[in-house]
Parts: sequence; structure tokens; C-alpha cells
Amino acid sequence: MPVTQCLAPTPDGLAQLADLLRTGGLVAFPTETVYGLGGDARSDLAVAQIFEAKGRPRFNPLIVHLPDAAAARALAVFDGRAEALAAAFWPGPLTLVLPLRAGSGLSDLVTAGLPTVALRIPAHPVARALLQVFGGPLAAPSANPSGRISPTRAAHVMEGLGGRIDAVIDGGACAVGVESTIVGLEGAARLLRPGGVPVEALETALGLPLLPPEAGQITAPGQLAAHYAPGAPVRLDAVAARPNEVWIGFGPQSAGAALTLSEAGDLVEAAARLFHSLREADRLAGPGGAIAVAPVPETGLGRAINDRLRRAAAPRG
Ligand code: TXA
Ligand code: MG
Repeated sequence: MPVTQCLAPTPDGLAQLADLLRTGGLVAFPTETVYGLGGDARSDLAVAQIFEAKGRPRFNPLIVHLPDAAAARALAVFDGRAEALAAAFWPGPLTLVLPLRAGSGLSDLVTAGLPTVALRIPAHPVARALLQVFGGPLAAPSANPSGRISPTRAAHVMEGLGGRIDAVIDGGACAVGVESTIVGLEGAARLLRPGGVPVEALETALGLPLLPPEAGQITAPGQLAAHYAPGAPVRLDAVAARPNEVWIGFGPQSAGAALTLSEAGDLVEAAARLFHSLREADRLAGPGGAIAVAPVPETGLGRAINDRLRRAAAPRG
């Protein structure tokens, strides 16, 4: 079992971490959405170790992170819609699922053998620096044990994966706080996962509404009903706390809550605080306690927030 190093993002440190990645090592790094668990996307061994460290079911495809759109075009086929979304939202919290090019060099484990690949250009300066120095594609799911809350700070990564991965780069708290929005462009444009880019903004850029995923397309863990689960049970749309519950508020109407996503009712702030608040509430609830969350509107980033909350509250399998 490796000793997990927690490192500052200095130029020397990043060069060492890129070397580690070249030999199949695993490095958790900050992105603007959540911390990712990175490994060389061309290496079957590195990718297999990502699944192993997370305890993740092996058939699920991973997102490939790249430094720029030119690197993305070398791996997948871009049509006009893909170019329009890339121009409007990259670098940033948008993942595009596109037809995979033959000879991409990616491990089949990354795509789970599908004819498509999920690509993302993160905006976080530390992620960008690491990708530049490494000079290749990094497969990176969120850096948490499968089924648990995604990490938005280096300390969250250490809590969940310490002793299971080689290193974590500490880049502070993630500004967006929920995972990237995933849009599938294999056929009709489909919203595969709500996330850091609001659906309304994507539809404006495309000039078209996004369709829901096709029946049977939903196989990935982030799309399973029970996911992002804290230890304590979660009750949604709570307008007050019951005895035993730690209440997470949203907006001025829940000013008495133990924790708040945003006192002012700001959805951007709420997304940034979501996963840390769930962890804090879990800790405060303790054994036998429960978590209650105030209602959050289903607009803009509220859609991604409610998606994650519904999964946190879903019956556990
Ligand atoms: O914000 C994020 O996207 C974070 C940070 C680290 O970048 N990453 C992340 O990756 O959330 P991950 O591996 O947890 O999400 C992978 C998701 C799967 O749940 C699946 O929905 C989708 O990406 N996916 C990947 N490849 C796909 C494909 N070929 N077709 C459809 N969906 C795919
Ligand atoms: Mg995840």
C-alpha cells in the first residue's frame, strides 16, 4: 500500500508527479468541479488501478482530461455542434461524449469498449499545468471511493483514498463544486448528466433543446439512483429540522439551519458548498443521526445540485 503524499503545486512537484504518471502511478488533482483521480489514459494498468483504488465497477467508462481542444480533436470526431460547445465552454465544466477516432491509443478500459469517448478540458490552473507537463491524456473520475461523496478539497481525497493512491496535489477548495455537465453528441444532442454548466446555457449555445439519455444508456455510477451517499440518511425538501436531524439550509427562509448551502439563496455558492456541507452534516449527525436539506430551485446549477441530492437521498442498495 503506498504512502499517499499531499503536495503543493510547485513546478518541481508537478514535474515529479508527471514522471509518476508516466510509470503508471495515480495522482489526485484539483479541477474547478471536484478533485479527479488521474492516471495515464493510454495505460491499461494505470486505468485498472483507478478502478481498483475507487472500488468502482469495471464496466463504467471514464472521462479523459486534455490540455486543449486540439488534443481532443486528435482523439474524437468533432461536428459543428461539438465545435460550437467547445468554443463556448472549454476550458470549463463541460464533458462531450463524441465518436472515438480509430488509433486513438486510449486504453479500452477508459471507454469500456464503447465506440465513443468522454472528453473534458478543465479550467483549473493546476489541472492545466499538470496536463501540460504530463503531455498526454489523463483518465480521471472523481477522487472518492465509489458511491461516496465527491471530494472538493485535498483533505476529502486523503480521507477517502489515503493509502490507496500515490499522491494528492493540494489546490484548495474547488470553485464549482459539482461535476461537469456531460453532453452526448453521438446522435441527437443529449444531456447525460447535469453539472457545472447550466443546461439553459448549453441550449442557448446549441440553439436546440437537449434530449434526455436514451433508455438503456444509463449504466454509469454517477447515474445510478443511490450515489454520492453520506453515512446518515438524507431527507429532501425539508422546511424545518426534526429532532435528530442536522438541517442544511438554502436561502433566508432557513436561517435557523445548522449549516447553509447559501444564506443568500445563490445557486453558484450552493453548488460550491454542496459536497463539503454533506460531509459536515454527516459528521455532526453522528451514529443514529440524520440529514435534512432545504428545497433548492430546479433552475441553473440547481438542476445539478438537486440531481446529486436525490442520489444522496435514494434508498441504498
Ligand atoms: O467534473 C468531472 O467531470 C469530474 C472531474 C474529475 O473532471 N470527473 C468525473 O468523472 O466526474 P467520472 O469518471 O466520475 O464520470 C464519468 C461519467 C460516467 O458516469 C458516464 O456518465 C460518463 O462519464 N461517460 C464516460 N464515458 C462515456 C461514454 N463513452 N458514453 C456515455 N457516458 C460516458
Ligand atoms: Mg464520481
